Amino acid sequence: MEIVKIRKGKKSDLKEIVRIFIKEFGKSPYNEKWSEKNAFLKFKDYFKFAKCFVAVVDKKVVGFIFADTYYQQTKKLWIYDLVVDGSYQGGGIGKKLIDFAINYFMKKGIDGVRLIASRKAKAFKFYKKLNFKETDFVEMEKKL
Ligand SMILES: CC(C)(COP(=O)(O)OP(=O)(O)OC[C@H]1O[C@@H](n2cnc3c(N)ncnc32)[C@H](O)[C@@H]1OP(=O)(O)O)[C@@H](O)C(=O)NCCC(=O)NCCS
Repeated sequence: MEIVKIRKGKKSDLKEIVRIFIKEFGKSPYNEKWSEKNAFLKFKDYFKFAKCFVAVVDKKVVGFIFADTYYQQTKKLWIYDLVVDGSYQGGGIGKKLIDFAINYFMKKGIDGVRLIASRKAKAFKFYKKLNFKETDFVEMEKKL
């Protein structure tokens, strides 16, 4: 694979971020059906309160992470989204992105990282590999 560069994400990266997000979250186990408009709104919002870093290969954005210090526990980093384009997965880019974000926030004094992951997703194995442990918290839902 070409050399991977990680840099801060910009609003001008939104188009690629949205493209990768819609493609990857359209797949199993998520099967989410996002319109381009709603995905744009979601990430435009994220830019207001979270830090974005993107992975670039050959001038093309191929992955991204949005993260920020957790609002209830200022010393925890919360990962909102971490996605790598399917054609580039398995090449170490996801790890590079999360490491970059963690290093950035370590300088600001974080002592942990939190996120929500589906047990059915590849991401679960990825996080386990990176030594993430399950907490006592579970997501709860009530169908209406
Ligand atoms: C999760 C995701 C970001 C991982 O990115 P990636 O670039 O494929 O992962 P990496 O290549 O950096 O993998 C890092 C390590 O995790 C391991 N890993 C990654 N996917 C794995 C899988 N499916 N099964 C087992 N191990 C896996 C790799 O083997 C690697 O370990 P190594 O360094 O010892 O080789 C990517 O799969 C993705 O974008 N998935 C779709 C979106 C998603 O689910 N995002 C997370 C939402 S919370």
